[in-house]
Amino acid sequence: MKRIILLLGLCALGFSCSKQLSPQDRLTVNDKKINEIIAQMSLEEKVEMMHSKTIMSSEGVPRLGIQDIKYADGPFGVREEVGDGFRAKGWSLDSATYFPTGSALAATWSPELAYDYGNGIGVEARLRGKDIMLGPAINIQRLPVGGRTYEYFSEDPVLAAALAVQYTIGMQDAGTAACVKHYALNNQETNRGTVNVIIDERTMREIYLKPFEDAVVKGGAMSVMPAYNKVNGYYGTENFVLNNEILRDEWGFKGMTVSDWGGTHSTMGAALGGLNVQMTGDNYFGQPLIDSIRMGKLSEEIVNDRVREILRLRFAIEPIPDEVANTVQTSQPASRQTAYNVATKSVVLLKNEGSLLPISSDKVKKIAVIGRNAIATTAAGGMGAGVKTPYEITPLQGLQNRSNDRFEITYAAAYKNYLGMFGRMMMMHGGGAAVKDIAMDINEAPDAELLKEAVAAAKEADIVLFFCGTNKFIETEGSDRSDIKLPLSQEEIVKALAEVNPNIVSVIISGGPCDLQELEKYSKSIVQGWWNGLEGGHALADILYGEIAPSGKLPFTFPVKLEDSPAYAMGNFPQKVEAATDVFAAAHRDDITGGQRRRMQRPAPDAHYTEGQYVGYRWFDTKQVPVMYAFGHGLSYVDFEYANVATDKQSYKADDVIKVSFDLTNSGSMTADEVAQIYVTRLDAKVEWPVKELKGFQRVTVDAGESQRVTVEIPVESLRYWDVDNDMWMLESGNIEILVGGASDDIRLKTQVAI
Ligand code: BGC
Repeated sequence: MKRIILLLGLCALGFSCSKQLSPQDRLTVNDKKINEIIAQMSLEEKVEMMHSKTIMSSEGVPRLGIQDIKYADGPFGVREEVGDGFRAKGWSLDSATYFPTGSALAATWSPELAYDYGNGIGVEARLRGKDIMLGPAINIQRLPVGGRTYEYFSEDPVLAAALAVQYTIGMQDAGTAACVKHYALNNQETNRGTVNVIIDERTMREIYLKPFEDAVVKGGAMSVMPAYNKVNGYYGTENFVLNNEILRDEWGFKGMTVSDWGGTHSTMGAALGGLNVQMTGDNYFGQPLIDSIRMGKLSEEIVNDRVREILRLRFAIEPIPDEVANTVQTSQPASRQTAYNVATKSVVLLKNEGSLLPISSDKVKKIAVIGRNAIATTAAGGMGAGVKTPYEITPLQGLQNRSNDRFEITYAAAYKNYLGMFGRMMMMHGGGAAVKDIAMDINEAPDAELLKEAVAAAKEADIVLFFCGTNKFIETEGSDRSDIKLPLSQEEIVKALAEVNPNIVSVIISGGPCDLQELEKYSKSIVQGWWNGLEGGHALADILYGEIAPSGKLPFTFPVKLEDSPAYAMGNFPQKVEAATDVFAAAHRDDITGGQRRRMQRPAPDAHYTEGQYVGYRWFDTKQVPVMYAFGHGLSYVDFEYANVATDKQSYKADDVIKVSFDLTNSGSMTADEVAQIYVTRLDAKVEWPVKELKGFQRVTVDAGESQRVTVEIPVESLRYWDVDNDMWMLESGNIEILVGGASDDIRLKTQVAI
């Protein structure tokens, strides 16, 4: 009481006493002015703001000098300027930096790099005159086959949330609003436009909503994109519980929601369900919205609330005048440096038998680079967002550029390119590559001539770098992979290569996990190389040549086989494809033809999440199912020793922070990074828990032979569970074991605390 009186006294004396505003409350500072504006607006003007103007903009209030809102696709770079039907406008200055995709960023386990990444995209968005970037994409990777695994971060909510928060803050610090997507439970592309996710409240809160909650509450995201799918019966755009009760009332979201493109399905449902802007079209949030209000079916207050939220974002983000935007190339040197930094920290060394890596010029003179993925570009392709990058260093180019005449490098494609139906259509329109270089089937048998050439190259070389994995047409928005097998007979090819050369390093170029059972047998070393941005080839070469020690860690599990993974083991997936056309493809077509949005004809299939909280390693560890490579796994060229774990106290209360400290020693001969991970196990819990859960982590750089005392903070609050009976977060008292290590299956130290 005394403190309050003292504060009031100081305020009265004119001292600055505005209390620290929460990230969301900062959006409300212009509310008085905004309310005055709303009072001057006609209903038509208000509704005009609530649907698309063009495929990537929504209307301001021209009469009152309020600018349109301009959007651009992310999440791994600012998409080129597109017109109707997503056709590229062919501008000359809209090449933007292609950043490593989501799973690569996540493999860095670096919130600091996530900040730089978001900031870099935010800066480039401003140069293009964009107000909202459609990213980050932060859904949990529930299925190894998920078509958008490469855009998303992790199977773990703590890792995904930490990256989402910093990406968002970085982007918004650059003056661009982040639009976190896809809210929520967009964990499959199969039937994504109709599927109804049936999930229990605890799993939803603890696993799937956590990254969104943190991006909104801690990151202050100004915008959120409701997903295509339904959750417990309601589309993302009509989900009162998700949008109004949880997002706005509980998390205090003060910004605006933007439907996924073609994801609005009704007028009343979406208006009552909390949608601000229909993207794209005005068939629901145009005249029908006006009519609903005029007929007294809907209160104009709802429209006022939604328009207020749109205006909050408009006032928080400075509009860029047309004559200022697009006057320089979008891609900036600082962003390209960030893309390189991320790529160097994302590459995961899965296996390194006999220390085949790094490649040393003492032992190796001739390198055979084999596999078409060594020359594949990944900035664009497939369905959905890509980046028109100013350049992209492929793995082969990276290896050549960084060789400095130390190595003789030969290349053989070994397998053809695969484009699927979608890619072949795109190619035909663009008059692209010769059809003889294109595989018609994803499991096409090896081409005898290409195989012969590859084997001959392998035979001649001291070491073989076999580039395998998927591509942007295999892992793509709009569909899930049918399995995670290496495509294009890559297993047969690596076997043939190993017969003539035992020194095989396999480099997987993919966004999601692959089945490595066969590859393992023939590869002494395996590297996960991701889709690693415009500097990816240089980063990879710097690691393979030993300039930089690898330090990426897997953000998701590589199962031994697909059927082991939780949704498969529980019989929840795969699902039959029910929808006639993918929702985006339909929207896309309607934008080109000017057609009316067609409702999906077929009934919405249900996706049951009965595996509950046992997602990813939570499942494999608890059910003791062996994995190929565990969550958090990643080797280095050095060894790290962990010792002397201690906590700052023995017993903690609800609002305490547990400080876990330990010594980390680099016993190798080069500077290297380690991502130390802290998991917890509940020792005497009454509530059901997985055997262990990630609660904290830290990337640390340690010089050769040096030690560092590392401290990782774990807020006790993060140990709570969602109590379904009382509809609230609860903390269970009891003993907790704290596990410290370099991966979920590499725990080096343990200690206990009481809560
Ligand atoms: C995707 C979104 C994207 C939007 C606009 C949709 O198909 O799901 O992530 O932002 O298209 O391109």
